[in-house]
Amino acid sequence: MAAQLVSGKLTSLPKDVDINNGEANVFDIDGDRVGAYRDQQGTLHIVDTTCTHLGCELNWNSAETSWDCPCHGSRFTYEGEIIEGPTVKPLKTGKEQID
Ligand code: FES
Repeated sequence: MAAQLVSGKLTSLPKDVDINNGEANVFDIDGDRVGAYRDQQGTLHIVDTTCTHLGCELNWNSAETSWDCPCHGSRFTYEGEIIEGPTVKPLKTGKEQID
């Protein structure tokens, strides 16, 4: 299974992407940092982990299942939606495609 990403600079995750249900990981793909979370149904949710506020790199928060920014505190759901500002833009996201 490979995840083909639909947006912009994001290309594809390695074919051996290995994330258990309920866990997340960060991948470096051609210099771009991409975050992937697999939900309890096994679906991958892929985001660009560059914060849409001023560009810091987000960290996975396993307790809250969110992507959190260490710089000014913006937080995003695993689907890239905003939980807390100061950012006003959701994350770029990718979509799973099964080979
Ligand atoms: S760069 Fe992420 S909150 Fe400012």
